Formats: sequence, structure tokens, C-alpha cells
Amino acid sequence: MAYGLLKGKKGIIFGALDENSIAWKTALKVKDEGGVFTLTNAPIAMRMGKINDLAKQCNAEIIPADATSEADLTNLFTKSREILGGKIDFVLHSIGMSPNVRKDRDYGDINYEWFLKTLDISGLSFHKVLQTAEKTDSMNEWGSILALTYIASQRTFPDYSDMAQAKSVLESIARSYGARFAKLKKVRVNTISQSPTKTTAGAGISGFDVFFDYAQMMSPLGNASGEDCAAYIALMFSDFSRMVTMQNLMHDGGFSTSGITQELIDRLSK
Ligand SMILES: NC(=O)c1ccc[n+]([C@@H]2O[C@H](COP(=O)([O-])OP(=O)(O)OC[C@H]3O[C@@H](n4cnc5c(N)ncnc54)[C@H](O)[C@@H]3O)[C@@H](O)[C@H]2O)c1
Repeated sequence: MAYGLLKGKKGIIFGALDENSIAWKTALKVKDEGGVFTLTNAPIAMRMGKINDLAKQCNAEIIPADATSEADLTNLFTKSREILGGKIDFVLHSIGMSPNVRKDRDYGDINYEWFLKTLDISGLSFHKVLQTAEKTDSMNEWGSILALTYIASQRTFPDYSDMAQAKSVLESIARSYGARFAKLKKVRVNTISQSPTKTTAGAGISGFDVFFDYAQMMSPLGNASGEDCAAYIALMFSDFSRMVTMQNLMHDGGFSTSGITQELIDRLSK
């Protein structure tokens, strides 16, 4: 059911790679709620070509941008404003990549060049997005900017490797830039800490299926799906969340505040 929550709002959605991507599901949800937007992804991800199907479904234009390139981001914000016919109300940063994780590099034998790449793509790029939005004066007052994160920023999870550090950086940027953007433009900046979700980025972590099943048992409501996350993002882009800023919002079915669950006790005592 649609509620028209985002009627009249304009935005930019980063990170839709295929139908499983959280950004893909978000684009469909935002469209249903009346929002209009441009879609963007790294030029290399465009080669898959799938994003064209989503663009058609959403009547959205695609503007390629490597989120680590300030020039690409400046072009993205400038073109998005032209295409959408005004300033931006919402931005979703749904980006993550670690060469160390992708190449299964052991945490005790990490490649530091790749580590810096992980930090740049998965953490610092959020600062670049925020700073470009400010410098190009692209945001409307009471806009909402979100990035997606994972609880491995705060607790250790084997095999999440240097992505854990990147997510800590990301969450910290949301607080620091959130304070600044609130004063400048009443723009809110938050991160959403999502349950394990079966996507390309998720499945790239070795042992992901075990994480997923464990989180399912440790979350009284179960794991939040990609669709649930898209609905929460729509709420966070809407006027119903105007005073929420500088937060790391747990969207995890109760995982983060569970000590142990009966389900897990039953399973372990078998
Ligand atoms: N899947 C999970 O279990 C899970 C859980 C919590 C948080 N998250 C986060 O959700 C976000 C979206 O991931 P997803 O699970 O939908 O996977 P996904 O693989 O579908 O999306 C990741 C996206 O990042 C894009 N990307 C990589 N490098 C880029 C660059 N240099 N510039 C621009 N874009 C770039 C990819 O092209 C891809 O579209 C990520 O931040 C991820 O860490 C995922």
C-alpha cells in the first residue's frame, strides 16, 4: 500500500546493482510513495546494464558517478538538479566494497593499499557526497541524507575485515556532518544499520549464510529484509522524521539489544 509519503520530493539514489540491492528496492518504494529521483552507480557497475531496467520502471535518468571522485559527484548533483528541476530533498548512499574482502585476504595479512580503497569507497565517499551537496548548494531545507551500515562497525564479526573500520568511519561522518548540515540547512544525516541481507555485497563476505541464520535466530522479529529496509528509508526521507539526525538507526529486528534468544537456547541445547 502506498501513502504518498514522498509526493513532491526529489532525490538521488546511489548503489542499485541488481534486483537484490537494497538501493534497487528503495528506488521502487520511493517511486511508489511519489518521489522522483536520479539513479547513480560507479561506471564499472553500469556495464552489467541491469540498472537500465530499473530506470525504465522508475522513469528515472541514470548519471554514472564513482563515489570516490569529487568531479563525478559535482557533475551528479549539478545534473540531478537540472533533470529534476530543483534542489534535492533526499539522498541514499548505498555503497560498499572492500578489495580485501573480495579477494579473501586474511585480516592478519591485509593489503594496505586495498585497505585505503575500502575506506575511500565505503567510508570517506559519504563525506564526499555530503561535502559536494553542500558546496553545490544542492539541498533543500529539511532534506534527509542516509547511508547504510552494519553492526560490525561496533562489534566484531569474523571475515567482515576492513569493512568494519570503513563502517565506523561512515557512522562517525554522519554525526559530524549531521551537526554541520543541521545548522546550515536543517538537513538531517543518519545511518541505518541493517540486518544481514542477501545481496551481492552481503554474499561477498565469507560465512555470510551462517551470519544470516545466526542473526535470524538472535532477532526477536527475525532479520529485516531488503524490502523492510526500503520502507524504513522512505519513512526517513519523509516529513515524519524531520527531527531525527546524527543517529545510527538500528533496523535489525531487535538483534542489537538481544543478549540471547529462546530460539538460540533451544537450538544450542539440542
Ligand atoms: N547486504 C547486507 O547484508 C548489508 C547489511 C548491512 C548493510 N549493508 C550495506 O548496504 C549497502 C548496499 O549494499 P547491498 O547489500 O545492497 O549490496 P550491493 O552489492 O547490491 O550494493 C553495493 C553497491 O555499491 C556500489 N559501489 C561500489 N563501489 C562504488 C563506487 N566506487 N562508487 C559508487 N558506487 C559503488 C556497487 O556498484 C553496488 O551497486 C552497503 O553500504 C552495504 O554495506 C548491507
